[in-house]
Amino acid sequence: MELSRPELFDFCGVSMIHCFTENWDKVQNFKARPDDIVIATYAKAGTTWVSQILDLLYFGKSDPGRQTSIPIYERVPFLEMSIPKFFMGAELAEKMTTVPRIIKTHFPVQFMPKSFWEENCKIIYVARNAKDNVVSFFHFDRMNMVQPEPGDWPSYLQRFQEGKVVFGSWYDHVKGWWEKKQTYANIHYMFYEDLIEDTAQEIEKICSFLNISPTQEEKGRVRREVGFDAMKKNEMTNYSTLGVFDFKISPFMRKGKVSDWKNHFTVAQKDFIKLLNQKKMTNTTLRFRTEI
Ligand code: A3P
Repeated sequence: MELSRPELFDFCGVSMIHCFTENWDKVQNFKARPDDIVIATYAKAGTTWVSQILDLLYFGKSDPGRQTSIPIYERVPFLEMSIPKFFMGAELAEKMTTVPRIIKTHFPVQFMPKSFWEENCKIIYVARNAKDNVVSFFHFDRMNMVQPEPGDWPSYLQRFQEGKVVFGSWYDHVKGWWEKKQTYANIHYMFYEDLIEDTAQEIEKICSFLNISPTQEEKGRVRREVGFDAMKKNEMTNYSTLGVFDFKISPFMRKGKVSDWKNHFTVAQKDFIKLLNQKKMTNTTLRFRTEI
C-alpha cells in the first residue's frame, strides 16, 4: 500500500481526515448490538491499554492464545477507520462472531452512530490530561504515515489548542462525553492518570461497570499482561504488525507515563495552556490531574 500524509479538513465543525469520514453512511448506519462494548477516547488517551484489558477480561479464559496471536486492531476494530482494501473498521466489526464485540472509536460524542444509544450499549470513555495527551499525539503523528504532517512542536501545540488536529478539539471531546454521561447512564468515564496510579483498582471499577466477576487468578493475568513493558514487548499490542508506523521515529508504546509534558513544555507554553484550561473548563465539573 502506498502511504501518503492526508490533509486535515473541517467536517461538521470537527477537524478530520479522509479515512475517518470516507465511509460515513455505513458507519452512521452501523447496527450496534445490545451487548456491544465501546471504548471511546480522544486519540492517545489509553485506548489500546483499555482494549487489551477488556479483551483479556472477556476472552482471556475462553481463548487464552488470542492475545498473543491476533493484533489488537483485529480484536477491537476501529469503527470509523476506512482505508479500502486495507482496513475497514465497521466491516470488521460486522463480521465479528465473538460476544461481546469490543469496538473502539475516537469520535466526538455527536458523531456516534445512533444505534449505540438505541441499544443502550455500555461505553467506556478514557480521558487523559491535555498536556500529556498532546505530547503523545505529537509523537504519534510524527511516526504515523497516514496522519497529517505534524510540523514542529511549537506549531503542533498551537494547532492542538485551536482544535486543528485529527478529531478536533480535545476540550470539546472530553467535555462532550462528560456531558453525555450526565444523561446516559451506561458510560463509565475513566482517566489515564488513575489507571497509571492504581491499575488494579481501575480494573475492579471496569468489572463492576460491566457486571463481570473474574476470579483472582484471571485478574492476576490481566494485570500482568497489561503492564507497559508486557504490552510493549507483545507484537499484538505494540502495533509492529500494522505497517503504517515508522518505529525509527518513535515507538507506539512510547513512555506510558503521567507528566512527560514536563519534558516538552516551555514555561511560556505551560502558562498559556494553564490560561486556556481555565477559560475552556469553566463550564464543566470535569477536572484533570497533570501529575500524580
Ligand atoms: P505515550 O505516547 O505517552 O507513551 P492510544 O492507545 O489511545 O493510542 O494511547 C497511546 C498512549 O497510551 C501512549 O502514551 C502509550 O504509551 C500509552 N499506553 C499504552 N499502553 C499502556 C500501558 N500498558 N501502560 C501505560 N501506558 C500505556
